[in-house]
Amino acid sequence: LSSAPPSELGQSYFRLYPDEKDPLWLNPCTDKRHKAIWPFVQGCKQLPSMIIVGPQKTGTTALSLYLSLHPKFKPNKASKRTFEEVQFFNDNNYRKGLKWYMEFFPPIESSLVEQSIRYFEKSATYYDRALIPKRMNALLPDVDVIIILSDPVKRAYSWYQHMKNHSHPAALNYSFYDVITNKKQDRLIKQLQDRCIRPGKYVIHLERWLDYYHPSHVIIVDGKQLIDDPIQVMADLQIKLKVNDILDYSMKLQFDQRKGYYCVKRERGRNKCLGRSKGRKYPPMDKDSEMYLRNFYRPYNIKLKEVLESRSLAIPTWLKEQT
Ligand code: A3P
Repeated sequence: LSSAPPSELGQSYFRLYPDEKDPLWLNPCTDKRHKAIWPFVQGCKQLPSMIIVGPQKTGTTALSLYLSLHPKFKPNKASKRTFEEVQFFNDNNYRKGLKWYMEFFPPIESSLVEQSIRYFEKSATYYDRALIPKRMNALLPDVDVIIILSDPVKRAYSWYQHMKNHSHPAALNYSFYDVITNKKQDRLIKQLQDRCIRPGKYVIHLERWLDYYHPSHVIIVDGKQLIDDPIQVMADLQIKLKVNDILDYSMKLQFDQRKGYYCVKRERGRNKCLGRSKGRKYPPMDKDSEMYLRNFYRPYNIKLKEVLESRSLAIPTWLKEQT
């Protein structure tokens, strides 16, 4: 019997099993043997119990803000490194390891632990990335996965406007119709087209989440209702999250005429609304683009409704109206 230094052993191992170079983090705290050698045991209670996974441009920032108003929910620690979102389960950050992720969820004071404070995070790009449901389930099998579904046609346009605002060259130089219908192999247009259209093929991504999570852990939020009646959305969401002390969000939110959206009430002065990049004012979508996208998304939406129905998941009103 012979052995070699750990690095040599490691190299031999990955020569034999190259597919295993990609890590898959499990929760070291759930296995006694792993816990015994995990140098960061204080992190065991520090993982989120609910995650808003997106998709982008469906109201994820608003929902995250509303959740953070609840005394029982706590968002991850803000980080300059990742801006507003942690995005741990995306490739680059995932390789940074579990300790990196847990640092976003510092130990909760013991008095708050007794009150069962629950951590949450929101990273809107999780929804449509293929590997994420598997990665998330390996680490957080019991997490509640919150998915916001809004009309994919409007979502696509919102993304285009967002990128125009960020001076994406294809958004500045091409109309929305050109971008979504363009068959040329221009890399920048293709890239923008992909981010406008792909996330909105909701059913394809949803089925991947349902491969890893039981429907009782998947919560569908209607993105249109989140804009029109967030007070009711938050009441329903708290029931689904099995919260004991239901917060009446009419105490916290009110419609703001200037912003044209619900904002957080303040005791004095103006309401606290989301920043300028959320709830932008832009011209309405042209009819040709709308018709093109409605036809494009129809088969996906029909299938989406079937899948939601078959798993007894909530069906957004806009989807009922369109199918
Ligand atoms: P627009 O800015 O295109 O109108 P996300 O936070 O996922 O990026 O989503 C942004 C979208 O959230 C906005 O898109 C807007 O339609 C929607 N939204 C929902 N509630 C909102 C609120 N209270 N304030 C601002 N935008 C809100």
